[in-house]
Amino acid sequence: MGYVGLCTAATFASHGIRTIGIDIDEARIERIRKGRAPLHEPRLGEMLSKAVKKKLLNATSDFSLATDTGTSFLSVGTPSQPDGSIDLTYIKQAAGELGKALQKRQGYHVVVVKSTVIPGTTNNTVKPVLEQLSGKIIGPSLGLCANPEFLKEGTAINDALHPDKIVIGSNDKKSVDQLTRLYRKFYGPKLPPVVTTSPETAELVKYASNAFLATKVSFINTIANIAQKIPGVDINQIAEAIGHDPRIGPLFLKAGPGYGGSCFHKDLQALIHYSREQGYDPILLAETEQTNEQQADKVVGLSERLLGQLGSKRIAVLGLAFKKDTDDIREAASIRVIDRLRKRGAKIVAYDPVAMLNFESAFGNTIELAKNPHTALKGADCAIVMTEWDEFKKLKAEDYLANMREPNVIDARRIYKPEDYERLNLVGIGLGSVLRI
Ligand code: UGA
Repeated sequence: MGYVGLCTAATFASHGIRTIGIDIDEARIERIRKGRAPLHEPRLGEMLSKAVKKKLLNATSDFSLATDTGTSFLSVGTPSQPDGSIDLTYIKQAAGELGKALQKRQGYHVVVVKSTVIPGTTNNTVKPVLEQLSGKIIGPSLGLCANPEFLKEGTAINDALHPDKIVIGSNDKKSVDQLTRLYRKFYGPKLPPVVTTSPETAELVKYASNAFLATKVSFINTIANIAQKIPGVDINQIAEAIGHDPRIGPLFLKAGPGYGGSCFHKDLQALIHYSREQGYDPILLAETEQTNEQQADKVVGLSERLLGQLGSKRIAVLGLAFKKDTDDIREAASIRVIDRLRKRGAKIVAYDPVAMLNFESAFGNTIELAKNPHTALKGADCAIVMTEWDEFKKLKAEDYLANMREPNVIDARRIYKPEDYERLNLVGIGLGSVLRI
């Protein structure tokens, strides 16, 4: 019942499919049972409470309830290890517990691996554990598929309701047919294209998808850094223009402080590690990661160009979440930027509409947290917009002028039109035109 499992369960239940959510975290289960979301995701809470009221979604820590179902989805985390490879402990444990429960299953049951796993995991890790603990062989009574997810935090419910494709990887037709039937029941005439592959292909599709998207972000950030050097050039216009070419496409061309989130960095590291183990060094992917890491230096560089030495300067960081509409701070660019600013002796005050609790639990009281954007700006020498929250889009030039000691503003997300903020010392990522410094 992490991010993916919970959103998947809630959407299945919202379409009248009886769903059981299993997790080992009792506190989380208790919350879900009450119809309350344990994480911030638009539409999730509302969907959960309806599904729980209608008794379409039950949450439990008892694996044996899976015995009464036809399909189960393994959606546990596969966290990074220090060498970049993924830790399969949770998926092995979950597959084992599920296998034990399925010993008692009378009818056919398909186990679906939704977790992001490197090629070969479904067949070489999940399958033997399942077969051993269930006492069954993949075939007539037990099925196994890899079925990666492509949900984005902040729009996960919409993504689950309107996916652009479904990828099902399996070596046996019976399990593909059952899973396709389930999705057909769910989507009806709106069933998106279903791509059926081997499990290994499906597993690699997930990594290819995230690696491509991450590379697109590092690419546009690279062009933004070049644009930054040329007065009169704006990366947003470049993105708009090249995006008209259908071979490039308009999405995922927003320059910024670098990608964050629980997936891109983890998945790129896992893919690079896996690929090197196979004897191929994927240089492009390593450069994508390095470009991303360096993007934080670009943001800090802008603050140094505005302020000179950062020692004892008060800097307001607006936004901690890795993107808007989530309370997730994992791998957020804000963390990389704050770390660099602090190393240079700056005093940080930060504000985020929903992610401050998560920041505090991860980093304690290492920085000052403000109650609202206005108090964050009070007396600041510089403000950096790190997350594109709507709340920050509403801030006017006057809000900055009225509160800050000096109105130095870095728009690391390009949420402001420079012409509306002419009274500020506004600089933006990939904006060569208004660098008045
Ligand atoms: C990403 C993928 O987009 C999903 O398809 C995938 O299912 C998910 O990872 C996963 O593997 O679970 P997510 O990490 O939730 O989704 O967020 P994205 O919207 O992809 O954004 C990732 C980062 O890239 C954010 O920090 C965002 O601000 C940044 N980004 C995105 C940009 O800087 N520019 C862009 O144009 C787009």
